[in-house]
Amino acid sequence: MAPMGRLRSYGYVPQPQAALYYSQRTTPGGLLISEATGISETAMAYINIGGIWRKEQIEAWKPIVDAVHSRGGVFFCQLWHAGRVSHRDWQPNGEAPVSSTDKPVADDPSSQYRFTPPRRLTTEEIPTIVNDFRLAARNAIEAGFDGVEIHGAHGYLVDQFLKDSVNDRTDSYGGSLENRCRFALEVIEAVSNEIGPDRVGIRLSPFANYMESGDSDPKSLGLYMAKSLNRFEILYCHMVEPRMKTVSEIFECTESLTPMRKAFNGTFIVAGGYTREDGNKAVEEGRADLVAYGRLFLANPDLPRRFELDAPLNKYDRPSFYTTDPVVGYTDYPFLDTTD
Ligand SMILES: Cc1cc2nc3c(=O)[nH]c(=O)nc-3n(C[C@H](O)[C@H](O)[C@H](O)COP(=O)(O)O)c2cc1C
Repeated sequence: MAPMGRLRSYGYVPQPQAALYYSQRTTPGGLLISEATGISETAMAYINIGGIWRKEQIEAWKPIVDAVHSRGGVFFCQLWHAGRVSHRDWQPNGEAPVSSTDKPVADDPSSQYRFTPPRRLTTEEIPTIVNDFRLAARNAIEAGFDGVEIHGAHGYLVDQFLKDSVNDRTDSYGGSLENRCRFALEVIEAVSNEIGPDRVGIRLSPFANYMESGDSDPKSLGLYMAKSLNRFEILYCHMVEPRMKTVSEIFECTESLTPMRKAFNGTFIVAGGYTREDGNKAVEEGRADLVAYGRLFLANPDLPRRFELDAPLNKYDRPSFYTTDPVVGYTDYPFLDTTD
């Protein structure tokens, strides 16, 4: 199951309904990646996203993780920092959100989300953010998670360092490809040292340009990251397909993740617009080891069973993706009626 923020973690604390939601989607040996989970107070961007930097949050995750484990699932926590995709109202003391840059994301008055201009992190501050990722990874293990996925995709903080349309730094974290990838690789190194590389994955979306985070040479960026990650021997690299030009729309394109898949030595996960058929094909043809499913899993708690039987699928209800109801659009999608 692909990571999906569902905005049902009131006050940044995961809620009991998440135990039911995740356990409904658990199968023995199935890998679930959690919703994006904030690593620190400055990481947050929207209301009702879960965090994992406070004791209370760690305790709240425990029964959720237990529920997944009791059904034999493998559960990774996606660790996230929003960077400039935030608003000072969500920041401690109303300060500016932090980023690789001080360039703002355009504030779109028609959107339900508002952003305020970021403050560029100084070179000296960067190790403190790396350390926040490290501590959050330790907290995730304390909560019982089997591992963590660093959220390096979709225009959030790690991606704000990776992409040349955002990163305009002149220090050792900006400019060349090597410099732009430095922050992500320092996070990977710190987290791997803390919890062991066999518990670490990363999600990347080199081809995406969400939140104005495009890159002029995404193929070189993806390849450089895939090769550099080998040094740390982490468990997996999870890449979002180039066809996912926005978080939920698919475009035809000729770009492919195959060069990155070939360059990376560990488990390679792909995501983005997959159906049962083309997911099977991707694995058969060796283009991926695993395929992550997002929206189909959101709407079909028993997706693996339905795939096994090639049964019809529930349709997802987009308006309730990000609403706050603890049941509606969350845990009330029907299971397959196998009594027919
Ligand atoms: C409701 C919703 C929430 C999402 N939240 C996250 C998230 O927290 N972290 C992330 O990396 N991707 C997130 N995504 C993207 C999905 O993980 C996935 O890449 C995307 O839905 C495309 O895959 P699909 O076609 O199988 O749905 C989200 C997508 C949806 C629909």
